[in-house]
Amino acid sequence: MFIIQSIRLHAKAKSSVSEELQVIAPSKLAIDSVSKSFKSATGLVHALDRVSLQVAEGEFVCIVGASGCGKSTLLSIIAGLEKPDRGTVKADGKPVTAPGRERLVMFQEPALFPWLNVLGNILFGLKLKPNLTSKDRLDIAKYYLELVGLSRFQLANIHELSGGMKQRVALARALAPNPRVLLMDEPFAALDALTREQLYGDLQRIWKARNKTIVFVTHNVREAVCLGDRVVLFSPHPGRIQEQFVIDLPRPRDLNSVELAEYASRIMHSLRTFTEPEESLAI
Ligand SMILES: Nc1ncnc2c1ncn2[C@@H]1O[C@H](COP(=O)(O)OP(=O)(O)OP(=O)(O)O)[C@@H](O)[C@H]1O
Ligand SMILES: [Mg+2]
Repeated sequence: MFIIQSIRLHAKAKSSVSEELQVIAPSKLAIDSVSKSFKSATGLVHALDRVSLQVAEGEFVCIVGASGCGKSTLLSIIAGLEKPDRGTVKADGKPVTAPGRERLVMFQEPALFPWLNVLGNILFGLKLKPNLTSKDRLDIAKYYLELVGLSRFQLANIHELSGGMKQRVALARALAPNPRVLLMDEPFAALDALTREQLYGDLQRIWKARNKTIVFVTHNVREAVCLGDRVVLFSPHPGRIQEQFVIDLPRPRDLNSVELAEYASRIMHSLRTFTEPEESLAI
């Protein structure tokens, strides 16, 4: 367990460091009738069709759906990495037109820089914050390393880390610029079940401690129920929101509880009604 309170910053820490580490207000997101198509070698692909979704400040929303139903496309549009053909995305009432440090993305592959050590990778994320001194950056990077439980590995090389540790570094790197929204695209999909379960607990704790709005994409229904305040089901071809479930379970949630399994089973049943049998989904 991470004891956030135990983190002591340098006695003479500049106010900019304490300002940077403040828990800031999370964003609310308004996705309004977003459509997106791609031209491919086989024709036009309707990735998203009039998708509307409101995400409250500090809410943890999980998006579940079969492969190809537009989950990553929606996340890229929220991040400002892709533009919708139609519709709008607003964060705190302002249209999202480009990527920004307020909304950072974490992908399935941790995409760390192998030529930098653990600390160097987190410091890299702080390049988005031009007003900090090198010492400020170091203090902030160390804070986030402790938050994800990797203080002992700050000088480790990336190739020396396990998959779970790499994702912890990627999480610390995404958190370090103190974004208001964290967009997570199947970040734990490549990890073994035990590591994933540990990360579910850690992510819930960090989400509470840092008060972020999180949109989390997954194929795994139980993962979605374990993490989300709300689970949004997408149906494919074209990608649309099919149904939404509010997950009214106390936290931290036990992945193996009967109550969680009941939610997962209900959601899985609903997913099966509009998903082809060969499309991959896990419970
Ligand atoms: N840049 C692109 N060019 C052409 N087609 C694309 C592009 N990006 C996505 N698509 C298509 O849009 C559809 C939605 O893709 P997307 O990656 O959003 O799905 P997904 O739900 O994230 O799938 P997965 O669960 O497999 O990651 C797919 O049919 C995909 O082939
Ligand atoms: Mg995807």
